[in-house]
Amino acid sequence: MKKMYIQTYGCQMNQYDSERIAQVMGRANYTLSDEPANADLLLLNTCSVRDKAEQKVYSALGSWREIKQQKSGVIIGVGGCVAQQEGDRLLKRIAHLDLVFGTHNIHKLPEMIEQVESARARPVEIAFYRDASYMEDPDGRTHVQGAKAFVTIMQGCNKVCSFCIVPHVRGREVSRPSEKIIAEIKSLTTQGVKEVMLLGQNVNSYGKTSAGEIPFAELLQRVDAVEGLSRIRFTTSHPQDLSEDLIEAYATLDKVCEHLHLPVQSGSDSVLVRMRRGYTRSEYLGRIDRLRQRCPEVALSTDIIVGFPGETEDDFERTLELLSQVEYDEIYSFMYSPRIQTVSAKLYNDDVLEEKKKERLKQVQNVQQEISLRKNKQKIGRIEEVLIDGHSRNRAQVMGRTRSNRIVNIVGRGNLIGEMVNARIIAATVNSLVGELTIEETASEIQAQGEMV
Ligand code: SAH
Ligand code: F3S
Repeated sequence: MKKMYIQTYGCQMNQYDSERIAQVMGRANYTLSDEPANADLLLLNTCSVRDKAEQKVYSALGSWREIKQQKSGVIIGVGGCVAQQEGDRLLKRIAHLDLVFGTHNIHKLPEMIEQVESARARPVEIAFYRDASYMEDPDGRTHVQGAKAFVTIMQGCNKVCSFCIVPHVRGREVSRPSEKIIAEIKSLTTQGVKEVMLLGQNVNSYGKTSAGEIPFAELLQRVDAVEGLSRIRFTTSHPQDLSEDLIEAYATLDKVCEHLHLPVQSGSDSVLVRMRRGYTRSEYLGRIDRLRQRCPEVALSTDIIVGFPGETEDDFERTLELLSQVEYDEIYSFMYSPRIQTVSAKLYNDDVLEEKKKERLKQVQNVQQEISLRKNKQKIGRIEEVLIDGHSRNRAQVMGRTRSNRIVNIVGRGNLIGEMVNARIIAATVNSLVGELTIEETASEIQAQGEMV
């Protein structure tokens, strides 16, 4: 067996892709290594959504050059969004790079590595496919660890948000057939998975571009019916496509967790128009009201961009106001950075100064911290269902997430990892909760400890 090391940047989609790389290369007799220096194959799975992505690639590759110099036969490859965008330009710029594979070309890796080994070639594969079969592995998912798993249901995006590189580097929307998705989830549950996160750039438009395919709300119903599965999450939903059917799914399907990530980007209508988001502030707020009517417990998170071209103080105030109005449970906030090929980079000057962007980012985060802390404190005293998925930074504790996606640290032993427990919340910070096991859980833990003695 040879060893491979995979470095992943960016989103959950990329994490899933890295798992697929491990699986595809597993069939070609490679196992994962935690140490780049021990590996025969070094792969970088890149992201180009935001700033400095390309620089990160160059610096990571720089540090791998030495490994290659010290050990003969080491192969270095770059995949993901930067690879898709740059193609063979990467090979020209980086002499010690052997191969470049795009976002649709993971299945080509074994063949590419063979070409490097046998013909000392430097292959580049960045074609896009419209047929979803490039996302399937002949022997299904065999590399699963833990109680949670990502499942890609679609790739690409047909929206035209002016700031976003994703449609350029991941292509047009392609949905996986629903039977394949359900079969994969059934197989995951037999391997111990209790929670799945369905992934797509815009999951709400699942199936729309495949003739005869079921819509997303129906896919959720089918996933909900899979025995042995306890929780379903999905990301990301575009506000424009948050249909009444989907809202109904939140209200009625037991396994769908009460958490929705619904990126708003800005609270100002004029910025939203230039972003080409396709909704107004009041339409967005209307959808949230409707969702909260049908599912009052739902936790909400969002993405915010500050410093989009032309964003005035007034525009920015509207974003702050929106945060106070919606009271999200969590937000991800970013400074605008122009991306090559995107409409906003072509049409508008990046005219909000860096200092101003930083200041606005800080303001957004301050407003949100106060809200997050307040909302987390409201959980104190409640009993929450937590799926334990690892150790806390403090090794005496384990951590997991509630259905509303809050992190909970619990004093307990490692043998709880992978278990669903009930915890009473006893303390809260901005980013997490502290819980203690309820009486039944503690009793079964004591029993488990007794059995181990
Ligand atoms: N639908 C996607 C969005 C991908 S990008 C998803 O699955 O999450 C994730 C977030 O990055 C966006 O919602 C946006 O807030 C941010 N982002 C995208 N392009 C950006 C840019 N050019 N500058 C700053 N932030 C950006
Ligand atoms: Fe990007 Fe907008 Fe699609 S943010 S991924 S173009 S929905």
